[in-house]
Amino acid sequence: VFEVKHFKYIVIGGGVAAGYAAREFTRQGLQLGELAIISKEGVAPYERPALSKSYLFPNEAARLPSFHVCVGSGGEGLLPEWYEEKGIELILGTEIVKADLASKTIASASGRIFRYQTLIIATGSEAKKLKDFGVQGADAKSIFYLREISDADKLVEALKAKQKGKAVVIGGGYIGLEVGAAMRINGFDVSMVYPGPWCMNRLFSPAIASFYEEYYSNKGIKLIKGTVAVEFEVGSNGEVKTVKLKDGQLLQADIVVVGIGGRPLTALFKGQVEEEKVGIKTDGLFRTSVPDVYAVGDVATFPMKMYKDMRRVEHVDHARKSAEQAVKAIRASEDGKYIEEYDYLPFFYSRYFDLSWCFYGDNVGEPVLFKDIGNADTDDDSKCKNPRFGTYWIHNHKVVGAFLEGGTAEENIGIAKIARLQPEKKKEELEMLGMLYARLA
Ligand code: FDA
Ligand code: NAD
Repeated sequence: VFEVKHFKYIVIGGGVAAGYAAREFTRQGLQLGELAIISKEGVAPYERPALSKSYLFPNEAARLPSFHVCVGSGGEGLLPEWYEEKGIELILGTEIVKADLASKTIASASGRIFRYQTLIIATGSEAKKLKDFGVQGADAKSIFYLREISDADKLVEALKAKQKGKAVVIGGGYIGLEVGAAMRINGFDVSMVYPGPWCMNRLFSPAIASFYEEYYSNKGIKLIKGTVAVEFEVGSNGEVKTVKLKDGQLLQADIVVVGIGGRPLTALFKGQVEEEKVGIKTDGLFRTSVPDVYAVGDVATFPMKMYKDMRRVEHVDHARKSAEQAVKAIRASEDGKYIEEYDYLPFFYSRYFDLSWCFYGDNVGEPVLFKDIGNADTDDDSKCKNPRFGTYWIHNHKVVGAFLEGGTAEENIGIAKIARLQPEKKKEELEMLGMLYARLA
């Protein structure tokens, strides 16, 4: 008979949201032994964004403990000792395989049983796999996905083993662009393949994408758009030799990295909790349909107050803020207090090579491109050393979203304000004001 461990609070998942939840619990006043974080991963919560960026660099690569949460938002890095000091049980290398929300009991793969009073689901996402799309040879050895630190370690090992070889990156989204750049920085001969007519087509307008695509081409990365991989030819050593594309092209590959989207990890709770838009449905306090069960980060489909709809957001800023909101809500409910509903302004960002962009708001309506002309050191944007440009989105006469490449901290705060306040502006005005509008906001 297994011992049943009881905690007042349990967080399932030990990623970004779990780490920020832990800090918020301590801020709100936590007793020793009240909180457990149960994670499949073997390390304390860390800032996942590092994995597709500095973790892969050939020189001065980021390694733990330098990027544990909460360094990504300017806070202190929470090392394993911190959890110990605060009396938080960090149960690592432990996958929860069963959850019974009715009896408030969860069980790990090794048969450990835990009970809680209040549960926070923070299981994040998994990478979609090519084998789910019927791609032949998709389980070959030299095909890599990137979600957890163990995936990143395998990729780093392969980068060393296949030095300066041929790399094929599949997917033109966040992972594709970030890892494609990192592979090029590592000296690989990189080809990127994606089905869309331009990269990052969920967010970028064609004009924004064309800047990055030209920049990548100038860096020597080959971009193959409008097609997908259909088959991998695998050698006798189990490693990929070539990638066959739907359009008939054949690419040599020493290494393949795949980033074709994420899928929220909700299977444990299927049929027990209400779902919406592939996520676990919550209210503005991140309460699910089951009492005492909260869901945060990638898995939560929550009311986006500003846009009056329900959304799921797969980005780190929301993982942090939703975790903090849920913990505040839990503590407030215990004290019979009221807290404001979550009122989130979407914030996404990325970095590749020397580039860095930020986006706030909603990318609906008409995109209005502007350039910071005074700054240009060449007419060819993609060759400019410090490119600075941006886009505002106008919807129903209002500015609802804003994107800046190379913005200063002040300008990035400016576009956040604009996206939050949604001022009325005409296209011509925005084109003329450009960056200045962000600076003055
Ligand atoms: P997260 O994925 O961080 O954590 C989930 C945790 O739960 C993991 O530790 C997992 O092992 C664990 N888990 C899952 N199932 C479990 C189970 N059954 N039992 C126990 N443990 C379980 N966003 C952004 O805004 N800017 C960026 O630059 C990046 N960069 C980036 C790079 C890479 C490589 C990835 C994969 C993702 C990003 N993101 C990002 C997205 C961002 O990292 C993501 O939205 C947050 O990490 C989500 O936080 P969560 O805590 O919800 O999940
Ligand atoms: P994504 O959704 O950003 O991009 C998926 C890409 O794969 C798209 O270009 C899409 O067209 C392409 N694609 C889809 N199906 C395909 C198929 N069958 N074959 C080939 N290409 C296909 O997802 P991602 O880049 O894999 O990122 C995974 C998760 O990690 C997401 O939640 C993302 O938000 C997160 N992430 C975020 C950041 C960031 O915010 N800077 C960085 C890395 C990862």
